[in-house]
Amino acid sequence: MAAPRLIMKLEVAALRDGPGEVRIVEFAHPRRPTLPGFAPGAHVDVHLPFGGVRQYSLIGDPAETGRYVIAVKREAQGRGGSAWVHEGLAVGDLVPVSAPRNHFAIPPGEGPALLLAGGIGATPLIAMARALEAQGAEWRLHHFVRDRAEAPLRHEIAAVLPAARVTLHDAGAEAARRTLAALLADPPPDGRLMHCGPPGFMAAVAEAAQGWPEGSVASEAFQPLDDGAPPAPFAIRLRDGREVTVPADRSALDALREAGVALNAACENGVCGTCECGLLAGEAIHRDQALSPMAQARRFIPCVSRGRGVIALDL
Ligand code: FES
Repeated sequence: MAAPRLIMKLEVAALRDGPGEVRIVEFAHPRRPTLPGFAPGAHVDVHLPFGGVRQYSLIGDPAETGRYVIAVKREAQGRGGSAWVHEGLAVGDLVPVSAPRNHFAIPPGEGPALLLAGGIGATPLIAMARALEAQGAEWRLHHFVRDRAEAPLRHEIAAVLPAARVTLHDAGAEAARRTLAALLADPPPDGRLMHCGPPGFMAAVAEAAQGWPEGSVASEAFQPLDDGAPPAPFAIRLRDGREVTVPADRSALDALREAGVALNAACENGVCGTCECGLLAGEAIHRDQALSPMAQARRFIPCVSRGRGVIALDL
């Protein structure tokens, strides 16, 4: 199981609303001047007052150690976290926030870096672009949005990134697909690609980036990775020999809990790694972003991942 993370009661130091129904939240410690540091691409877990946890990328400068800044888009179809940030949060509130964790590091190398963002997916890329700029690296950010005037984070991007390195695209999905194909057709030597956005955008980038070498691409999705196949029922064999059936419309985590298996969980979105357990046998369908491809050979994330037939878990 993943190590527990430090959780701090942080104070909401500032709130401001920007284009695209995005609220910027600044957290600071009520007594300590510095917070645990973070690398570009890192996120924090914000614990909601009604239960549950949401991950938000840190958009601030990693060199600034006194505050964490997140950006939250209001999601009409969301699970309540964004509505709470937009309607329930006030300056001075104390909120449990974890120490940062990073599943989305800049790939190693010194080659040119291409950062591709879909809408609010610009959040982790802003910190990455700042770091690349500070290193004197060659980088470009392409931000794909529906509406230029409502482009999420456009003020933050304009304030901290050189305009000549940032391109905004607002010509629609088909034009975006063509632009991505052109941008990604020829991977430069030692090039690095980082992308983040909603599922359709991620799929379009993945398709266009097929020629990029393994290890040169890093991404972060907002939702469990989708293999395109409709979920099918499967079964989990426990160490005591019991078999737990996972229906097509339930997660393995839910089915295990109903069977009385005690499992910690936080994000329930395949990102934080809290629910991680051992995979002993069987064919898993990994849909998480918490495990490396190597770790997926022997570990399993039951909040989002599934299996074929029967899989055996170390539970
Ligand atoms: S609870 Fe976060 S990865 Fe499963």
